[in-house]
Amino acid sequence: MNVLGIETSCDETSAAVVRDGVAVLSSVVASQADLHARWGGVVPEAASRMHVERLLPVIHEALGDARVDAGQLDGIAVTNRPGLVGALVAGVACAKALAYAWDKPLVGVHHVVGHVQAARLAEPSLEYPYVCLVVSGGHTEIILAESDARLSTMGRTRDDAAGECFDKCARLMGLPYPGGPHIERLAAQGDPKAIPFPRAWLGDSLDFSFSGLKTAVARFVKQDAGRVRLEDMASSLQAAIMDVLVVKTLRAAKQAGVRTVAIGGGVAANRALAGAFTREAHANGMDCVTPSVALCTDNAAMIAAAGHWRLIRGESDDMRLDCMATDCMPLWHGGGNAS
Ligand code: KG4
Ligand code: ZN
Repeated sequence: MNVLGIETSCDETSAAVVRDGVAVLSSVVASQADLHARWGGVVPEAASRMHVERLLPVIHEALGDARVDAGQLDGIAVTNRPGLVGALVAGVACAKALAYAWDKPLVGVHHVVGHVQAARLAEPSLEYPYVCLVVSGGHTEIILAESDARLSTMGRTRDDAAGECFDKCARLMGLPYPGGPHIERLAAQGDPKAIPFPRAWLGDSLDFSFSGLKTAVARFVKQDAGRVRLEDMASSLQAAIMDVLVVKTLRAAKQAGVRTVAIGGGVAANRALAGAFTREAHANGMDCVTPSVALCTDNAAMIAAAGHWRLIRGESDDMRLDCMATDCMPLWHGGGNAS
């Protein structure tokens, strides 16, 4: 079964073809990072317009790379929530038009479910249940995946997402957008213990909070930046973010009685984080799946995979499929008018 995936929830225009929910036949990602860098963050209206321009060429390329034509597709999956609403509308309108023209089933996909499915693209033998930490510019969530249809949130951020914290702190440190990769590069040359930035443990809760860390970095930059190397600041910041992510995800897995953990989302592209997860998971007798950078950052292959499992369950959406900026529906439903 071949599914075309379309992803436009933020600033990457992406299309991919996935066979049988696990084999990536093609994955094309047109990043808008250069466009938004000049403003220091994603400008929603500019992102929507760029998606409209790039969608059809990107889809054409994905079908060409996969050597699959429209007639060989069994469905079209599209991210319909959550995200920048104008950006989502561009992808969903395109998916609806193609589904209508090619007479294919249409399925809406929750973006976070896509990130959870990326672990199974990375490791097709991965079995349920597993606990997946989804960390990106917009999300920091610990998800318990019991099956492709049964996902529940065990913990989430109460304020900023981890990626947002990386980006905002990087900006305070004078680094370009998106800041996460710049922090990782500098951190590799720094001392993670140089500055004791705060960790918000929130007692026994599996929730996260990163706003205090951001404030601490802002205060540090203002008062003390001159006396430490940028590399040490980056390394200390990265360690403060990583510590809570790793500890809480492993705690969640233990609470759920699950012995496999996975990570996904743009922040999971951080190889220091992936390394720390693997080390700590193994030390606790758990297996750990850390997808490649291309599968961690936004991509349509993960959306095609998540859509595949909805189609297998006999679900699809009709032309009333709606877009939602916020995370207001159960993770595993279409969020439109699932039939
Ligand atoms: O999943 P993603 O591509 O888009 C969203 O759904 O938000 O995640 C983007 C986020 C940005 O905040 C970016 O700074 C962060 O992922 N990121 C990283 C790294 N690469 C991307 N954060 C830390 N280290 C990295 N290497
Ligand atoms: Zn994402």
